[in-house]
Amino acid sequence: MKRVRSPAGLRAALAEGEGRLAFVPTMGNLHEGHLALVRRARELADRVAVSIFVNPLQFDRREDLEAYPRTLEVDAALLEREGVALLFAPDADLIYPEGMERHTRVEVPVVTEGLCGAARPGHFTGVATIVCKLFNLVQPDIAVFGKKDYQQLLVIRKMVSDLAMPVEIVGVETVREADGLAMSSRNGYLTAEERQRAPALYRTLQETVAALRAGRRDYRVLEEAGASRLEEAGMRPDYFEIRRAADLGRPSGDEQALVILAAAFLGKARLIDNLEVFL
Ligand code: PAF
Repeated sequence: MKRVRSPAGLRAALAEGEGRLAFVPTMGNLHEGHLALVRRARELADRVAVSIFVNPLQFDRREDLEAYPRTLEVDAALLEREGVALLFAPDADLIYPEGMERHTRVEVPVVTEGLCGAARPGHFTGVATIVCKLFNLVQPDIAVFGKKDYQQLLVIRKMVSDLAMPVEIVGVETVREADGLAMSSRNGYLTAEERQRAPALYRTLQETVAALRAGRRDYRVLEEAGASRLEEAGMRPDYFEIRRAADLGRPSGDEQALVILAAAFLGKARLIDNLEVFL
């Protein structure tokens, strides 16, 4: 595996390889969820590039940025074992040479509104900007993202479609612990006692899926019930919402594909998860 830090180094390394290129952008601190993306990328292309960049532009709180776990050497060893061809791990000053404030931004409308977009102002502009820049640098044929960040996946799909970017976006199912908790770097912030309670998020999503499959369409009531269940489990719900799967619009009652999305604080961690439901 080649490791490069600069855009110039990246260009040189890319020029040496051949065949279809799949790209997995990450912020590092890799777990099985990321490795599932890498494995899917390997199935889809001749070579895989991964980026590790803790993007300051997408953090709304400085403390979160500073506390974000940085484990580059361990991550690199994992990627090497997965057969990744190229690791791009730039420093922030190579990505934002004039500083973040002076950098062009990519704003994706509508699908960024509400849910995590409401709770984290500017977050999706930061994500769209860095993903757009990484796509321009890496020029992949395919890019692979996790469905755990469902809203992020739709933001990227819309950006790629609106700006006619020549890259195919592939979404990969969420990887879960044995008790259902979605894998996330943020799970590391949970105490042992909070970790015991955390699977309530997935269970509540599953209960809501079951209610929808049983024919319930009283979305507001189901959303309120979901949020209450999270509170009973000791969490502070940020949102618990039922939306259309295709565009995150509010469902009218006759949709066949919905997604239930939830975010909740548990101790220091803000957990997010979602489940698609096809009726
Ligand atoms: O999902 C992530 O890890 C990040 O938001 C991404 C897509 C790598 C952009 O920084």
